[in-house]
Amino acid sequence: MEAYVVEWLGFLGRWFHMIAGIAWIGASFYFIWLDGHLLPPRYAEETQRLGLSGEVWALHGGGFYRAQKFAVAPPELPRPLHWFKWEAYTTWLSGMFLLGLVYYWGAEVYLVDRSIADLGKPAAIATGLAFLAGGWVAYDLLCRSPLGRREGALATVMLVLCALAAWALTHLFSGRGATIHFGAMLGTIMAANVFFVIMPGQREMVKAKVEGRVPDPSHGARGKQRSVHNTYFTLPVLFTMISNHYAVFTGAKHAWAVLVAVSLAGVLIRLYFTSRHRGPAKPWLAGAGGAILAATFVALMPRTATVATGEATFAQVQRIVTERCAGCHAAHPTFAGFASAPKNVMLDTPERIVAQALPLHQQAVVLKAMPIGNLTQMTDEERATIDAWFRSGARASP
Ligand code: HEC
Repeated sequence: MEAYVVEWLGFLGRWFHMIAGIAWIGASFYFIWLDGHLLPPRYAEETQRLGLSGEVWALHGGGFYRAQKFAVAPPELPRPLHWFKWEAYTTWLSGMFLLGLVYYWGAEVYLVDRSIADLGKPAAIATGLAFLAGGWVAYDLLCRSPLGRREGALATVMLVLCALAAWALTHLFSGRGATIHFGAMLGTIMAANVFFVIMPGQREMVKAKVEGRVPDPSHGARGKQRSVHNTYFTLPVLFTMISNHYAVFTGAKHAWAVLVAVSLAGVLIRLYFTSRHRGPAKPWLAGAGGAILAATFVALMPRTATVATGEATFAQVQRIVTERCAGCHAAHPTFAGFASAPKNVMLDTPERIVAQALPLHQQAVVLKAMPIGNLTQMTDEERATIDAWFRSGARASP
Protein backbone atom coordinates (compact mmCIF):
# COMPACT_ATOMS: atom_id res chain seq x y z
CA MET A 1 0.00 0.00 0.00
CA GLU A 2 2.74 2.43 0.97
CA ALA A 3 4.64 1.77 -2.26
CA TYR A 4 1.43 2.25 -4.21
CA VAL A 5 0.76 5.62 -2.60
CA VAL A 6 4.38 6.68 -3.18
CA GLU A 7 4.00 5.72 -6.83
CA TRP A 8 0.93 7.95 -7.16
CA LEU A 9 2.63 10.83 -5.39
CA GLY A 10 5.55 10.43 -7.76
CA PHE A 11 3.23 10.44 -10.76
CA LEU A 12 1.30 13.52 -9.60
CA GLY A 13 4.52 15.32 -8.67
CA ARG A 14 6.09 14.63 -12.07
CA TRP A 15 3.03 15.62 -14.01
CA PHE A 16 2.74 18.87 -12.10
CA HIS A 17 6.49 19.55 -12.33
CA MET A 18 6.44 19.17 -16.11
CA ILE A 19 3.40 21.42 -16.55
CA ALA A 20 4.79 24.14 -14.27
CA GLY A 21 8.20 23.84 -15.94
CA ILE A 22 6.72 24.20 -19.41
CA ALA A 23 4.80 27.31 -18.29
CA TRP A 24 7.96 28.80 -16.77
CA ILE A 25 10.39 28.02 -19.54
CA GLY A 26 7.81 28.80 -22.20
CA ALA A 27 7.32 32.30 -20.81
CA SER A 28 11.05 32.72 -20.20
CA PHE A 29 11.98 31.68 -23.76
CA TYR A 30 9.24 33.92 -25.10
CA PHE A 31 10.52 37.01 -23.31
CA ILE A 32 14.10 36.31 -24.36
CA TRP A 33 12.82 36.01 -27.92
CA LEU A 34 10.81 39.19 -27.51
CA ASP A 35 13.79 41.18 -26.25
CA GLY A 36 15.94 39.86 -29.08
CA HIS A 37 13.45 40.94 -31.72
CA LEU A 38 12.70 44.45 -30.47
CA LEU A 39 12.88 47.04 -33.25
CA PRO A 40 12.59 50.82 -33.03
CA PRO A 41 8.89 51.59 -32.55
CA ARG A 42 6.89 52.51 -35.61
CA TYR A 43 5.10 55.65 -34.49
CA ALA A 44 7.56 58.42 -33.56
CA GLU A 45 5.13 60.64 -31.68
CA GLU A 46 4.00 57.81 -29.39
CA THR A 47 7.57 56.67 -28.88
CA GLN A 48 8.53 60.11 -27.64
CA ARG A 49 5.48 60.63 -25.51
CA LEU A 50 5.59 57.24 -23.76
CA GLY A 51 9.35 56.69 -23.62
CA LEU A 52 9.33 53.45 -25.60
CA SER A 53 12.56 51.66 -26.37
CA GLY A 54 11.33 49.05 -28.84
CA GLU A 55 8.48 46.95 -30.08
CA VAL A 56 7.62 43.64 -31.71
CA TRP A 57 4.77 42.89 -34.06
CA ALA A 58 3.58 39.30 -34.18
CA LEU A 59 0.86 37.11 -35.60
CA HIS A 60 -0.36 34.22 -33.50
CA GLY A 61 -3.53 32.18 -33.28
CA GLY A 62 -5.23 34.30 -35.89
CA GLY A 63 -4.54 37.70 -34.34
CA PHE A 64 -2.07 40.57 -34.67
CA TYR A 65 -0.14 41.45 -31.51
CA ARG A 66 2.08 44.39 -30.69
CA ALA A 67 4.33 44.21 -27.64
CA GLN A 68 6.18 47.35 -26.58
CA LYS A 69 9.08 47.77 -24.22
CA PHE A 70 9.55 50.96 -22.21
CA ALA A 71 13.01 52.44 -21.71
CA VAL A 72 12.43 52.37 -17.95
CA ALA A 73 8.73 52.44 -17.04
CA PRO A 74 5.43 53.63 -18.51
CA PRO A 75 4.22 57.15 -17.56
CA GLU A 76 1.64 55.62 -15.25
CA LEU A 77 1.21 52.13 -13.83
CA PRO A 78 -1.43 50.16 -15.70
CA ARG A 79 -3.77 47.68 -13.98
CA PRO A 80 -3.75 44.76 -14.11
CA LEU A 81 0.00 44.42 -14.44
CA HIS A 82 1.00 40.79 -14.96
CA TRP A 83 3.94 39.34 -13.11
CA PHE A 84 5.59 36.03 -13.91
CA LYS A 85 6.71 34.30 -10.78
CA TRP A 86 4.45 31.43 -9.78
CA GLU A 87 5.58 29.42 -12.80
CA ALA A 88 9.10 29.53 -11.36
CA TYR A 89 8.12 28.94 -7.74
CA THR A 90 5.82 26.01 -8.45
CA THR A 91 8.40 24.40 -10.72
CA TRP A 92 10.99 24.60 -7.95
CA LEU A 93 8.60 23.48 -5.21
CA SER A 94 7.38 20.49 -7.20
CA GLY A 95 10.98 19.67 -8.09
CA MET A 96 11.94 19.70 -4.41
CA PHE A 97 8.93 17.53 -3.65
CA LEU A 98 10.11 14.98 -6.24
CA LEU A 99 13.70 15.17 -5.02
CA GLY A 100 12.46 14.43 -1.52
CA LEU A 101 10.15 11.64 -2.60
CA VAL A 102 12.40 9.81 -5.03
CA TYR A 103 15.93 10.54 -3.86
CA TYR A 104 15.54 11.24 -0.14
CA TRP A 105 12.66 8.94 0.78
CA GLY A 106 14.22 6.27 -1.46
CA ALA A 107 17.81 7.28 -0.69
CA GLU A 108 18.99 3.67 -0.35
CA VAL A 109 17.92 2.86 -3.90
CA TYR A 110 18.52 6.08 -5.80
CA LEU A 111 20.90 8.37 -3.91
CA VAL A 112 23.46 6.37 -1.99
CA ASP A 113 25.90 4.01 -3.66
CA ARG A 114 28.04 2.35 -1.02
CA SER A 115 30.68 1.42 -3.57
CA ILE A 116 31.21 5.19 -4.09
CA ALA A 117 30.71 6.67 -0.61
CA ASP A 118 29.39 4.98 2.48
CA LEU A 119 26.97 7.72 3.47
CA GLY A 120 24.12 7.20 5.90
CA LYS A 121 20.71 8.44 4.81
CA PRO A 122 20.66 11.67 6.89
CA ALA A 123 24.24 12.53 5.89
CA ALA A 124 23.44 11.96 2.22
CA ILE A 125 20.35 14.16 2.37
CA ALA A 126 22.16 16.94 4.24
CA THR A 127 24.99 16.81 1.69
CA GLY A 128 22.54 17.04 -1.18
CA LEU A 129 20.75 20.04 0.30
CA ALA A 130 24.09 21.72 1.05
CA PHE A 131 24.95 21.56 -2.66
CA LEU A 132 21.67 23.24 -3.57
CA ALA A 133 22.17 26.09 -1.10
CA GLY A 134 25.92 26.36 -1.70
CA GLY A 135 25.48 26.58 -5.46
CA TRP A 136 23.18 29.56 -5.11
CA VAL A 137 25.36 31.38 -2.57
CA ALA A 138 28.50 30.97 -4.69
CA TYR A 139 26.78 32.06 -7.91
CA ASP A 140 25.06 35.04 -6.30
CA LEU A 141 28.29 36.27 -4.71
CA LEU A 142 30.08 35.99 -8.05
CA CYS A 143 27.33 37.98 -9.80
CA ARG A 144 27.52 40.72 -7.16
CA SER A 145 31.35 40.85 -7.26
CA PRO A 146 33.22 42.91 -9.90
CA LEU A 147 33.29 39.72 -11.98
CA GLY A 148 29.53 40.08 -12.39
CA ARG A 149 30.09 42.91 -14.84
CA ARG A 150 32.21 40.77 -17.16
CA GLU A 151 29.96 38.12 -18.61
CA GLY A 152 32.70 36.13 -20.35
CA ALA A 153 34.84 35.85 -17.22
CA LEU A 154 31.78 35.07 -15.10
CA ALA A 155 30.75 32.28 -17.46
CA THR A 156 34.26 30.79 -17.35
CA VAL A 157 34.40 30.82 -13.55
CA MET A 158 30.91 29.31 -13.37
CA LEU A 159 31.95 26.54 -15.75
CA VAL A 160 34.93 25.67 -13.55
CA LEU A 161 32.80 25.74 -10.39
CA CYS A 162 30.14 23.56 -12.03
CA ALA A 163 32.82 21.09 -13.07
CA LEU A 164 34.10 20.95 -9.48
CA ALA A 165 30.57 20.44 -8.15
CA ALA A 166 29.89 17.69 -10.71
CA TRP A 167 33.15 15.97 -9.79
CA ALA A 168 32.37 16.14 -6.07
CA LEU A 169 28.79 14.95 -6.53
CA THR A 170 29.81 11.91 -8.55
CA HIS A 171 32.25 11.01 -5.77
CA LEU A 172 29.53 11.23 -3.12
CA PHE A 173 26.37 9.85 -4.71
CA SER A 174 25.18 7.22 -7.16
CA GLY A 175 25.36 8.31 -10.81
CA ARG A 176 21.66 9.16 -10.81
CA GLY A 177 21.84 10.92 -7.45
CA ALA A 178 24.81 13.02 -8.60
CA THR A 179 23.15 13.94 -11.89
CA ILE A 180 19.87 15.01 -10.33
CA HIS A 181 21.67 17.11 -7.72
CA PHE A 182 23.69 18.84 -10.42
CA GLY A 183 20.44 19.72 -12.20
CA ALA A 184 18.64 20.64 -8.97
CA MET A 185 21.54 22.94 -8.06
CA LEU A 186 21.22 24.83 -11.35
CA GLY A 187 17.41 24.80 -11.09
CA THR A 188 17.66 26.26 -7.59
CA ILE A 189 19.87 29.05 -8.90
CA MET A 190 17.25 29.77 -11.57
CA ALA A 191 14.34 29.90 -9.12
CA ALA A 192 16.38 31.90 -6.59
CA ASN A 193 17.22 34.41 -9.32
CA VAL A 194 13.51 35.03 -9.68
CA PHE A 195 12.83 35.09 -5.94
CA PHE A 196 15.82 37.01 -4.61
CA VAL A 197 16.78 39.30 -7.49
CA ILE A 198 14.24 39.70 -10.27
CA MET A 199 11.09 40.02 -8.14
CA PRO A 200 12.53 42.39 -5.47
CA GLY A 201 13.93 44.58 -8.26
CA GLN A 202 10.56 44.73 -9.99
CA ARG A 203 8.81 45.46 -6.71
CA GLU A 204 11.21 48.34 -6.16
CA MET A 205 10.51 49.68 -9.66
CA VAL A 206 6.76 49.57 -9.08
CA LYS A 207 7.15 51.19 -5.66
CA ALA A 208 9.15 54.04 -7.18
CA LYS A 209 6.40 54.64 -9.73
CA VAL A 210 3.72 54.63 -7.05
CA GLU A 211 5.71 57.16 -5.02
CA GLY A 212 6.21 59.34 -8.06
CA ARG A 213 9.96 58.72 -8.31
CA VAL A 214 11.83 57.76 -11.48
CA PRO A 215 12.69 54.05 -11.02
CA ASP A 216 16.40 53.28 -10.77
CA PRO A 217 17.22 51.49 -14.05
CA SER A 218 19.90 49.37 -12.33
CA HIS A 219 17.12 47.13 -10.92
CA GLY A 220 15.89 46.43 -14.41
CA ALA A 221 19.42 45.78 -15.67
CA ARG A 222 20.19 43.35 -12.83
CA GLY A 223 16.92 41.49 -13.38
CA LYS A 224 17.68 41.27 -17.08
CA GLN A 225 21.14 39.83 -16.42
CA ARG A 226 19.75 37.08 -14.17
CA SER A 227 16.94 36.32 -16.55
CA VAL A 228 19.46 35.90 -19.38
CA HIS A 229 21.55 33.59 -17.18
CA ASN A 230 18.42 31.54 -16.53
CA THR A 231 17.94 30.94 -20.22
CA TYR A 232 21.43 29.41 -20.44
CA PHE A 233 20.84 27.15 -17.44
CA THR A 234 17.68 25.78 -19.01
CA LEU A 235 19.08 23.22 -21.44
CA PRO A 236 21.53 21.70 -18.93
CA VAL A 237 18.75 21.39 -16.34
CA LEU A 238 16.42 19.68 -18.80
CA PHE A 239 19.26 17.34 -19.74
CA THR A 240 19.76 16.25 -16.14
CA MET A 241 16.02 15.62 -15.77
CA ILE A 242 15.94 13.09 -18.61
CA SER A 243 19.50 11.75 -18.42
CA ASN A 244 18.56 9.81 -15.30
CA HIS A 245 16.82 7.35 -17.55
CA TYR A 246 19.97 6.78 -19.57
CA ALA A 247 22.52 4.73 -17.71
CA VAL A 248 24.90 5.47 -20.57
CA PHE A 249 25.28 8.96 -19.01
CA THR A 250 24.76 8.40 -15.30
CA GLY A 251 26.73 5.16 -15.22
CA ALA A 252 29.65 6.48 -17.27
CA LYS A 253 33.10 6.09 -15.76
CA HIS A 254 33.66 9.84 -15.76
CA ALA A 255 30.02 10.83 -15.35
CA TRP A 256 31.04 14.28 -14.05
CA ALA A 257 32.84 15.07 -17.31
CA VAL A 258 29.82 13.90 -19.29
CA LEU A 259 27.59 16.19 -17.23
CA VAL A 260 29.86 19.16 -17.86
CA ALA A 261 30.29 18.39 -21.56
CA VAL A 262 26.59 17.96 -22.33
CA SER A 263 25.71 21.01 -20.21
CA LEU A 264 28.23 23.08 -22.14
CA ALA A 265 26.78 21.78 -25.39
CA GLY A 266 23.34 22.87 -24.15
CA VAL A 267 24.58 26.35 -23.32
CA LEU A 268 26.22 26.72 -26.75
CA ILE A 269 23.06 25.58 -28.52
CA ARG A 270 20.98 28.05 -26.52
CA LEU A 271 23.52 30.78 -27.34
CA TYR A 272 23.06 29.99 -31.01
CA PHE A 273 19.31 30.58 -30.68
CA THR A 274 19.70 33.84 -28.77
CA SER A 275 22.21 35.00 -31.40
CA ARG A 276 19.61 34.21 -34.06
CA HIS A 277 17.02 36.34 -32.25
CA ARG A 278 19.31 39.34 -32.48
CA GLY A 279 20.72 38.36 -35.86
CA PRO A 280 22.93 37.61 -37.61
CA ALA A 281 22.89 34.02 -36.33
CA LYS A 282 26.18 32.44 -35.33
CA PRO A 283 25.94 28.86 -36.65
CA TRP A 284 29.38 28.01 -35.24
CA LEU A 285 27.79 28.05 -31.76
CA ALA A 286 25.36 25.29 -32.68
CA GLY A 287 28.21 23.55 -34.50
CA ALA A 288 30.40 23.65 -31.39
CA GLY A 289 27.51 22.27 -29.29
CA GLY A 290 26.98 19.50 -31.83
CA ALA A 291 30.71 18.72 -31.91
CA ILE A 292 30.76 18.32 -28.11
CA LEU A 293 27.80 15.94 -28.30
CA ALA A 294 29.50 13.98 -31.08
CA ALA A 295 32.71 13.75 -29.04
CA THR A 296 30.67 12.55 -26.04
CA PHE A 297 29.03 9.94 -28.23
CA VAL A 298 32.43 8.62 -29.28
CA ALA A 299 33.88 8.81 -25.76
CA LEU A 300 31.02 6.80 -24.26
CA MET A 301 30.94 4.14 -26.97
CA PRO A 302 31.07 0.71 -25.28
CA ARG A 303 34.46 -0.80 -25.96
CA THR A 304 35.41 -3.57 -23.64
CA ALA A 305 32.30 -5.31 -22.47
CA THR A 306 33.22 -8.13 -20.10
CA VAL A 307 34.89 -10.73 -22.26
CA ALA A 308 32.87 -13.92 -22.35
CA THR A 309 34.82 -16.83 -21.02
CA GLY A 310 33.52 -20.35 -21.24
CA GLU A 311 30.02 -21.68 -21.50
CA ALA A 312 26.83 -20.72 -19.75
CA THR A 313 23.57 -22.62 -19.53
CA PHE A 314 20.15 -21.09 -19.39
CA ALA A 315 19.59 -22.67 -15.99
CA GLN A 316 22.54 -20.68 -14.62
CA VAL A 317 21.25 -17.47 -16.16
CA GLN A 318 17.74 -17.99 -14.85
CA ARG A 319 19.09 -18.59 -11.34
CA ILE A 320 21.14 -15.38 -11.47
CA VAL A 321 18.30 -13.29 -12.86
CA THR A 322 15.81 -14.67 -10.34
CA GLU A 323 18.16 -13.89 -7.49
CA ARG A 324 19.52 -10.53 -8.64
CA CYS A 325 16.79 -8.97 -10.78
CA ALA A 326 13.35 -10.52 -10.27
CA GLY A 327 12.91 -9.06 -6.79
CA CYS A 328 12.13 -5.80 -8.55
CA HIS A 329 11.44 -6.94 -12.11
CA ALA A 330 8.41 -9.16 -11.54
CA ALA A 331 4.67 -8.88 -11.93
CA HIS A 332 4.56 -8.63 -8.13
CA PRO A 333 7.91 -7.29 -6.91
CA THR A 334 9.08 -8.47 -3.51
CA PHE A 335 11.78 -5.83 -3.09
CA ALA A 336 10.68 -3.26 -0.51
CA GLY A 337 9.41 -0.03 -2.03
CA PHE A 338 8.48 -1.37 -5.47
CA ALA A 339 4.76 -1.54 -6.23
CA SER A 340 5.19 -2.62 -9.84
CA ALA A 341 8.01 -3.73 -12.14
CA PRO A 342 10.24 -0.70 -12.87
CA LYS A 343 9.78 0.48 -16.46
CA ASN A 344 7.46 -2.49 -16.84
CA VAL A 345 10.50 -4.73 -17.36
CA MET A 346 9.67 -8.20 -15.99
CA LEU A 347 12.25 -10.95 -15.73
CA ASP A 348 10.29 -13.52 -13.76
CA THR A 349 9.66 -16.29 -16.33
CA PRO A 350 11.97 -18.06 -18.84
CA GLU A 351 9.99 -16.59 -21.76
CA ARG A 352 10.37 -13.06 -20.42
CA ILE A 353 14.08 -13.48 -19.76
CA VAL A 354 14.66 -14.65 -23.33
CA ALA A 355 12.43 -11.96 -24.81
CA GLN A 356 14.33 -9.26 -22.86
CA ALA A 357 17.79 -10.69 -23.50
CA LEU A 358 19.01 -7.57 -25.30
CA PRO A 359 18.04 -4.94 -22.66
CA LEU A 360 19.01 -7.40 -19.92
CA HIS A 361 22.51 -7.76 -21.39
CA GLN A 362 22.75 -4.04 -22.05
CA GLN A 363 21.83 -3.04 -18.49
CA ALA A 364 23.59 -5.80 -16.55
CA VAL A 365 26.73 -6.35 -18.64
CA VAL A 366 27.47 -3.46 -21.00
CA LEU A 367 26.39 -0.54 -18.80
CA LYS A 368 26.47 -2.33 -15.44
CA ALA A 369 23.55 -0.05 -14.52
CA MET A 370 21.51 -2.91 -13.10
CA PRO A 371 20.80 -4.11 -10.46
CA ILE A 372 20.24 -0.47 -9.57
CA GLY A 373 22.88 0.65 -7.06
CA ASN A 374 23.88 -3.03 -7.20
CA LEU A 375 21.47 -3.48 -4.31
CA THR A 376 21.27 -7.23 -4.87
CA GLN A 377 25.06 -7.49 -5.09
CA MET A 378 25.55 -9.05 -8.46
CA THR A 379 29.10 -10.31 -8.99
CA ASP A 380 31.36 -9.88 -12.01
CA GLU A 381 31.32 -13.64 -12.60
CA GLU A 382 27.55 -13.52 -12.81
CA ARG A 383 27.75 -10.70 -15.34
CA ALA A 384 30.26 -12.76 -17.33
CA THR A 385 27.90 -15.74 -17.29
CA ILE A 386 25.07 -13.62 -18.69
CA ASP A 387 27.49 -12.27 -21.29
CA ALA A 388 28.50 -15.76 -22.40
CA TRP A 389 24.87 -16.84 -22.64
CA PHE A 390 23.95 -13.74 -24.62
CA ARG A 391 26.82 -14.15 -27.05
CA SER A 392 25.99 -17.78 -27.69
CA GLY A 393 22.48 -16.89 -28.85
CA ALA A 394 20.46 -16.17 -25.67
CA ARG A 395 18.29 -19.27 -25.94
CA ALA A 396 16.08 -20.86 -23.29
CA SER A 397 17.51 -24.36 -23.83
CA PRO A 398 21.14 -25.21 -22.94
C1 HEC B 1 16.26 -2.84 -6.52
C2 HEC B 1 15.44 -2.95 -7.66
C3 HEC B 1 16.03 -3.39 -8.97
C4 HEC B 1 16.78 -4.51 -9.22
C5 HEC B 1 17.23 -5.58 -8.25
C6 HEC B 1 17.03 -4.51 -10.64
N1 HEC B 1 16.47 -3.41 -11.22
FE1 HEC B 1 16.36 -3.01 -13.19
N2 HEC B 1 15.39 -1.29 -12.81
C7 HEC B 1 15.11 -0.81 -11.57
C8 HEC B 1 14.58 0.54 -11.68
C9 HEC B 1 14.13 1.43 -10.55
C10 HEC B 1 14.56 0.83 -13.05
C11 HEC B 1 14.07 2.12 -13.70
C12 HEC B 1 15.22 3.04 -13.92
C13 HEC B 1 14.75 4.32 -14.56
O1 HEC B 1 13.74 4.87 -14.15
O2 HEC B 1 15.45 4.76 -15.44
C14 HEC B 1 15.06 -0.35 -13.72
C15 HEC B 1 15.15 -0.43 -15.11
C16 HEC B 1 15.60 -1.55 -15.77
C17 HEC B 1 15.57 -1.73 -17.20
C18 HEC B 1 15.05 -0.74 -18.20
C19 HEC B 1 16.14 0.24 -18.55
C20 HEC B 1 15.66 1.31 -19.48
O3 HEC B 1 16.20 2.42 -19.38
O4 HEC B 1 14.77 1.07 -20.29
C21 HEC B 1 16.13 -2.95 -17.47
C22 HEC B 1 16.32 -3.61 -18.83
C23 HEC B 1 16.52 -3.53 -16.21
N3 HEC B 1 16.18 -2.67 -15.19
C24 HEC B 1 17.15 -4.75 -16.06
C25 HEC B 1 17.55 -5.27 -14.85
C26 HEC B 1 18.35 -6.44 -14.71
C27 HEC B 1 18.84 -7.29 -15.88
C28 HEC B 1 18.52 -6.67 -13.38
C29 HEC B 1 19.32 -7.76 -12.71
C30 HEC B 1 20.68 -7.87 -13.13
C31 HEC B 1 17.84 -5.59 -12.67
N4 HEC B 1 17.29 -4.75 -13.61
C32 HEC B 1 17.77 -5.49 -11.30
C33 HEC B 1 15.23 -1.47 -10.38
C34 HEC B 1 15.89 -2.70 -10.23
